[in-house]
Amino acid sequence: MPPVEIKPDIYWVGVNDRTTDLFEGLWPITQEGVSYNAYLINDEKTAIVDLAKSTKGDEFLNQIDRVVDVSRLDYVIVNHMEPDHSGLLRTIRRLAPGAIILGTKRTRDMLESFYGITDNVRVVEDGDTLDLGKHTLRFYVTPFVHWPETMMTYEVDHQILFACDAFGSYGALRGAIFDDECTDLEFYEQQALRYYANIVALFSNAVLRAIDKLGSVPVSVIAPSHGLVWRKDPGRIVQLYKKWAEYATGPTEPGVTLIYGSMYGNTESMMNAVAQGISRAGVPVDIYDAAHTHASYILSSLWTQRGVMVGAPTYEGGLFPPVAQVLEIAGHKKIRGRLTARFGSYGWSGGAQREFERIVTPLQWDIVDTFEFVGAPTEDELRHGEEFGARFAELIVQKEA
Ligand code: FEO
Repeated sequence: MPPVEIKPDIYWVGVNDRTTDLFEGLWPITQEGVSYNAYLINDEKTAIVDLAKSTKGDEFLNQIDRVVDVSRLDYVIVNHMEPDHSGLLRTIRRLAPGAIILGTKRTRDMLESFYGITDNVRVVEDGDTLDLGKHTLRFYVTPFVHWPETMMTYEVDHQILFACDAFGSYGALRGAIFDDECTDLEFYEQQALRYYANIVALFSNAVLRAIDKLGSVPVSVIAPSHGLVWRKDPGRIVQLYKKWAEYATGPTEPGVTLIYGSMYGNTESMMNAVAQGISRAGVPVDIYDAAHTHASYILSSLWTQRGVMVGAPTYEGGLFPPVAQVLEIAGHKKIRGRLTARFGSYGWSGGAQREFERIVTPLQWDIVDTFEFVGAPTEDELRHGEEFGARFAELIVQKEA
């Protein structure tokens, strides 16, 4: 996609990545892709805000060259050091050796440890400004959105917030970069939630602090470093991020994430009965087969829903490993305070429940019910499973009331 002028002399010069399978080497984006958004201000002094992953070098440099010769860059503003935005710093340094790199104190340290860069680095403090000619930039230090060194850059004259990871989403751009030109906003909002749950969730307090800090700053455009640029309704993505951040410690939505795994279909048969019970009670349920669904997708539901129903058989005296792995990742993300119940089949001695409790107890999940059966479920047991699901759903509703 060629550069897009978002305001006079301010350009989106990002690149799409449709070939990386795993974002951060961990989260699947094969189907969705991702964009690395960067922004170029072509004023009396030229400044670029954030860069891109090193694998996109040729394409990214070409984007800059379409607006201004890369060797003429005066400033490189590093909002965040994660290499999806900083990976081309050494290349830019070779091509524009006089360009000054700006970032926070911790960015200065990371520039050395990640790239061996120590020269022509300027540390900015919270509230510092940079005059480019017609445009003025102001810097807001926003630690831990997403790493400790992060800051946001604000273009004062057109009220553009270059927010880097904050307000970002998975999903390569499909020709349109703006929210008002996008014909599938729902896709980007879903991918923003998945991105939030995968990447940002652990830093929810920092997100709320940043939103609060910038609360009195007039913002006309939210320009993150992944996903859409929000100019029609910038408040929309801020409100979504705020809502998701509040889920870290506050009330979540009255629904159920049902995570299950099944070796030969017995636990799966019961899962269908349990899901019937939950649905009968009028409670929404997201169902995931943990062996066939990457945790990345399940986290979106786990982050937002109040209830977690776990269906997993005993496997070698423990919890069926694909389900255990998802729960361990939920623990890593500190998804706390859920209402949970577990069902599952066992062949002779059981053991799944013990491991389930070991994983979820430290997360302060309230285990309200358990239902185990031997081998294949009988008709009576399936009826019991439906009731088990309905009872759980009623507790979810009661907890809201
Ligand atoms: Fe998009 Fe934390 O990097």
